[in-house]
Amino acid sequence: MERKGRVEGKVALITGVAKPDSIGFATAKVFAREGAMLAIVDIAEAVHACADQLRGEGFTVSSHTADLTKMEQVKKAVGEVLTCYGRVDVLVNNAGMVVFGQEEDFTAFQDLTEESWDFGIAINLKTQFNVTRCVVPHMIAQKYGRIVNVSSVTGPVVANPDESAYCAAKAGVLGMTRGLALDVAKFGITANAVGPGWIQTGSTVEGEDVGGENTPLGRSAYPEEVGKVVCFLGSDDASYITGQLIVVDGGNTIQEYKGPSDLYY
Ligand SMILES: NC(=O)c1ccc[n+]([C@@H]2O[C@H](COP(=O)([O-])OP(=O)(O)OC[C@H]3O[C@@H](n4cnc5c(N)ncnc54)[C@H](O)[C@@H]3O)[C@@H](O)[C@H]2O)c1
Repeated sequence: MERKGRVEGKVALITGVAKPDSIGFATAKVFAREGAMLAIVDIAEAVHACADQLRGEGFTVSSHTADLTKMEQVKKAVGEVLTCYGRVDVLVNNAGMVVFGQEEDFTAFQDLTEESWDFGIAINLKTQFNVTRCVVPHMIAQKYGRIVNVSSVTGPVVANPDESAYCAAKAGVLGMTRGLALDVAKFGITANAVGPGWIQTGSTVEGEDVGGENTPLGRSAYPEEVGKVVCFLGSDDASYITGQLIVVDGGNTIQEYKGPSDLYY
């Protein structure tokens, strides 16, 4: 008997899918393999090439461009998705960290400008609010929904220097997820967050690979290893989990000892 996919027949809206070597793309692929129909959204036109690639593999995919920090553009994109499929069952808020084609901003708190702070909060937190705010009324009407917000260990659990806006936004994602989970539970909707650690993507900068090597599992994660957790939380296998942060970091944040491993273990 053919195995039924984890999200067979569901419509999954996934944001932040414009690069084949990203968490968003890997997540989209996991959902598609598990039987979902996809709507992928990004600020970058490259989202359409990603959709072409996925369609080439036989999956059902629509693609949409929007700056998700702008509510009007979010409303338009979500409207397009609803026209296309008539519903959204799973929402994955993955867009953030960097805008396609731009460099990530690393600045010490004492040098951070107001503009830089606002930008960090906008792309990492407001994007997730905007998309969720537009999708949730439809999930409430259908009395079903799975929302998975891609946070990070950076912010809710630990921090890195020169990333205070990112840390604040990603910790904010967890707070928003918990508040949202309580508000929508009575409508059959769950909301959870995923906290990736060191992940090997096209955005990986020098030094992050070394961070991965020093995790208990001895390597950075493949993007698909995050995608599989997102897909689990987006499926009915996770029907009694809500308001949680699931950390996907190879055990990195549970290590108390931070010195060279050859001196201790
Ligand atoms: N890569 C890691 O090691 C890592 C670790 C922890 C968490 N994360 C999180 O995982 C998610 C994906 O990261 P990634 O490494 O795949 O990055 P990525 O740069 O490949 O993907 C992020 C995507 O979000 C899009 N985006 C950014 N701002 C947008 C906006 N305003 N409107 C629409 N789209 C927008 C970008 O254009 C890009 O395509 C991010 O939320 C990131 O914070 C990544």
